[in-house]
Amino acid sequence: MNTYRIAAVHGDGIGHEIVPAGMKVLHAAAQKHGFTLESETFLWGAGYYQEHGDFLPENGLEIMKSFDAVYFGAVGLPEVDDTLPFKLFTNLVRTAFKQYVNYRPVKLFDGIESPLRSKTQSDIDFVIIRENNEGEFVQTGRQLYPDNPEGMACDTTIMTRAGIERVAHYAFKLAQKRRKSLTNVTKSNTLIHTLAYWDRIIAEVAEQYPDVAYKKMYVDAASANFVLHPEYFDVILTTNMIGDILSDLGGAIMGSLGLGGSGNLNPEGTFPSMFEPIHGSAPDIAGLNIANPVGQIWSGAIMLEHLGETAAAQDVMYAINQVTASGNLTKDMGGNATTDDIANRAIDALAVNPVNA
Ligand code: NAI
Ligand code: MG
Repeated sequence: MNTYRIAAVHGDGIGHEIVPAGMKVLHAAAQKHGFTLESETFLWGAGYYQEHGDFLPENGLEIMKSFDAVYFGAVGLPEVDDTLPFKLFTNLVRTAFKQYVNYRPVKLFDGIESPLRSKTQSDIDFVIIRENNEGEFVQTGRQLYPDNPEGMACDTTIMTRAGIERVAHYAFKLAQKRRKSLTNVTKSNTLIHTLAYWDRIIAEVAEQYPDVAYKKMYVDAASANFVLHPEYFDVILTTNMIGDILSDLGGAIMGSLGLGGSGNLNPEGTFPSMFEPIHGSAPDIAGLNIANPVGQIWSGAIMLEHLGETAAAQDVMYAINQVTASGNLTKDMGGNATTDDIANRAIDALAVNPVNA
């Protein structure tokens, strides 16, 4: 029997509710499909920082490295400087573990009223591939004399040929497995150095995938098309910051930010990959058992897929769709189900799904 060791890192806020809810569903899927998830819980994040002065212990990365995957909630608390969570946890793990692909699918589940009411499941089904290790978020730059009248600040975007090529190859290969269409979302008409280089290298890679239809679109136009013509998109390849922003818009057109799952992937498997919902720690609703766990559960399905348990992953996706289709919705989706209700209904749906029995 295959056994996978999972580091379950709650983070903060609703992470304490949705990570356990998600793990519960994944354990049920594992049991049904004949493998074992050995999970260990880590209470790292901004809460840990308040007590220990860092988001994770000094050997935290070493500890995570010994696991097959990291199943993560989100970090950040209103009481803690909000420039720290990304720097001291999320980006630290993403870069230390070379998780250069951020895989963020957008899909309309049955039973959920998207704000784009005339659209159906077949119209809203695409994947955002966000470059996850460089670009606008490298945090090189500085503030000079910030308190003086002549104060100034700059951030530098860094794009490397190797960094663009590796994520581009991942995205084109993914497109080959989907509807064979890839849109590069860029802004090279104004960011004429970094994004023009980004476009040039992606166009070079595109030539190696003649079976994939390649197009370029500026991010302003792409934002409008998310709302007006979501069916246009299959695989979107974009930069770290544009991908961050567009995936929340993707969450919104699905019907709630709480629905979106994601994977920070190290495709070569040289380090563990990390799976987290697209939203943050939602401190405004923490502790109330009303957080939507679907994005966390979906992240778990992406994790199972990554571990090679494809049938179990499909089964979990089927279960989520059954839950939403039968009207079990948390408050953010207009219902009154609790976090636990959704997890328990998903487990029930797994038990009766004949497709992957
Ligand atoms: P957020 O995503 O936590 O919340 C935005 C809004 O969406 C809130 O009204 C929240 O209640 C709602 N929401 C989010 N997830 C939900 C869910 N599963 N179910 C129901 N409603 C949900 O974003 P916000 O408020 O900008 O950030 C809060 C904290 O999270 C900050 O400290 C921020 O830095 C951190 N954050 C962490 C991330 C990570 O660890 N990867 C990513 C984004 C934000
Ligand atoms: Mg974000």
